[in-house]
Amino acid sequence: MISGVVSGVSNIGLVVGAVVYTIKKKMDDKKDNKPAPVPAGRLEDNKISWRGNSALTDGREAKFDLSKGMYDVGDHMKFGFPMAFTATGLSWAMLEYGDQMEAVNQLEPAQESLKWITDSLINAHPSENVLYIQVGDPEADHKCWERPEDMKEKRPLTQAADSTYSSTLLRHAKQLFSFANSNRGSYSKNIPEVATYYNSTGYGDELLWAASWLYHATGDQSYLRYVTGENGNQFAQWRSPSWFSWDNKLAGTQVLLSRLSLFGAKGASGNSGLKNYRKSAKDVMCGPLPKSPSATSNRTDGCLIWVSEWNSLQHPVASAFLAALYSDYMLTSQTADYVLGSNPLKMSFLVGYGDKYPQYVHHRGASIPVDATTGCSDGFQWLTSPNPNPNVAIGALVGGPFLNETFTDSRNNSMQAEPTTYNSALIVGLLSSLVTTSSTIRSFT
Ligand SMILES: *[C@@H]1O[C@H](CO)[C@@H](O)[C@H](O)[C@H]1NC(C)=O
Ligand SMILES: *[C@@H]1O[C@H](CO)[C@@H](O)[C@H](O)[C@H]1NC(C)=O
Ligand SMILES: *[C@@H]1O[C@H](CO)[C@@H](O)[C@H](O)[C@H]1NC(C)=O
Ligand SMILES: *[C@@H]1O[C@H](CO)[C@@H](O)[C@H](O)[C@H]1NC(C)=O
Repeated sequence: MISGVVSGVSNIGLVVGAVVYTIKKKMDDKKDNKPAPVPAGRLEDNKISWRGNSALTDGREAKFDLSKGMYDVGDHMKFGFPMAFTATGLSWAMLEYGDQMEAVNQLEPAQESLKWITDSLINAHPSENVLYIQVGDPEADHKCWERPEDMKEKRPLTQAADSTYSSTLLRHAKQLFSFANSNRGSYSKNIPEVATYYNSTGYGDELLWAASWLYHATGDQSYLRYVTGENGNQFAQWRSPSWFSWDNKLAGTQVLLSRLSLFGAKGASGNSGLKNYRKSAKDVMCGPLPKSPSATSNRTDGCLIWVSEWNSLQHPVASAFLAALYSDYMLTSQTADYVLGSNPLKMSFLVGYGDKYPQYVHHRGASIPVDATTGCSDGFQWLTSPNPNPNVAIGALVGGPFLNETFTDSRNNSMQAEPTTYNSALIVGLLSSLVTTSSTIRSFT
């Protein structure tokens, strides 16, 4: 469903091509090597010597201006489904990492690139229940190998009807979402010609993805209820990790919604649906980790995650993006959560932290009351005492759990219950890194 994608463009505004653009800029600095995806239409402020206006008459047959947008890949098709995904992917990158883009002077070009796409999506949605999902005939297009500036072929429009900048985008997104939600189905089922090119193998992921972004854009709780309630149960495929791609947005949805519980958004605590999304996001994270129990076996000998022959790099690159993002969420939300109590024992291994932590730390000073007088060996009575330590070794990090996640809180259990200076040194480093400024923006929860 196109609607899912359009709605990703939330109120920060405008996102397509930014990443490509950023990379391009770096390449431009080195040599005259320009990016492959090409903006269509009447170019503004064009800095690429070999690029010019093209597709100026796209949409004219329906009396609309569909000249803008991006050519899909190496061809000259404008496929709405993946173009809209491009817009959400780029929007997301800008929302999270806009600061970094700004630091290399690429935020504005990225916004301009995005707007080039969102303008075209708006133009493709001339009324509430009408959406043009494609410009060009792929069969005819694929018979050509020419510069887009020189195209003379007919570029027919494909419309989805009745089956079906900030505030403007949101209005389009809301309408398209409600259109998609009340006329459920894959656009490629309704318009079978597109299935050869961008087949949508399911629509549930797009509905959840769209509603998740609409929730972020509006704060409207009904969108949150939409994704966590029955629709979540029906479509989210919780705990079954998938690969993030233009066709399947579930992994992205799971990571995006993890924000809410990680950053403690209103209504997040105790929301079992959100918990399921977060658990599923963790499953997504485990797939690419080579040694994790749920590590994917779909790899090349060189260790590249490899899922499909067509566009094989989409999945590893998307996975790496999600992993970087999730890691930054953990950094920003200062999550070192297993050690601090988010574990099957619900116990913090950092002594003195949280409600439950080891009481029988293998530590002489902590085990002996301050007013006791002991010599070398009569102090062993404190080691063998059945009582918890009289003194709390605040900040000590004990040895830790066994592989089977058991921990015996016993003073004589030096393997598990003994704190060490080197553990402390490491956790100081880790915790300090968590309080430094992080790269993701927490404000948009
Ligand atoms: C498109 O996806 C549907 C649903 O998964 C599938 O049944 C159909 O065979 C696919 N069509 C093509 C052309 O791949
Ligand atoms: C692994 O790759 C094959 C194609 O080679 C694909 O059919 C299968 O679904 C992939 N498995 C996973 C878990 O991605
Ligand atoms: C957990 O692992 C430890 C160390 O291997 C073992 O001694 C203990 O019996 C195990 N406990 C359970 C409940 O499996
Ligand atoms: C404490 O542990 C040591 C080494 O495992 C063992 O030799 C000793 O008997 C234990 N003492 C008590 C009181 O459990």
